[in-house]
Amino acid sequence: MGATERTIRFALNGRPVTATVDSHFDLVDLLQRFDLTGARESCGQGLCGCCTVLVDGLAVSGCLTLAQLVDGKSVTTIEGLDQAGVLTPTQQAFIDEGAIQCGFCTPGFVLMAEQLLAHTPDPSEEEIRDWLAGNLCRCAAYPEIIRAVKSAAARTRAHARA
Ligand code: FES
Ligand code: FES
Repeated sequence: MGATERTIRFALNGRPVTATVDSHFDLVDLLQRFDLTGARESCGQGLCGCCTVLVDGLAVSGCLTLAQLVDGKSVTTIEGLDQAGVLTPTQQAFIDEGAIQCGFCTPGFVLMAEQLLAHTPDPSEEEIRDWLAGNLCRCAAYPEIIRAVKSAAARTRAHARA
């Protein structure tokens, strides 16, 4: 093991895992080792949101997060959001509202929306736009995405009341 390598242990989509990573290795690259490709590296500069994942429930850019920093933490990717195959209200709303075109940006938008709704269950359109400002969609599906997040908010509130 080289001087800059370190073995880390963390929860990945609820499962304890171990990895040995170099100090410059980023989180997106680490996830690919586990065959998780939902978080995509696009800009590589923290500008597009395509690499968004949740670390201890907070959305981070995987391209700017050093893999070693998730040691001891809980990492959730788009692949780990559903519950035994049942999509979350947010995932279902993105499908139902046609907010997915090529899909490249979708995991990042969904995870950011999940974090928004955990923080603000009934967001205004302005709050939705603010929270999603760091996520870019090259297909320009923004109207559908905003509609999907509004629908997801209503579904999540209804789900919580049931
Ligand atoms: S690839 Fe990480 S923000 Fe664009
Ligand atoms: S759906 Fe294609 S980049 Fe957003």
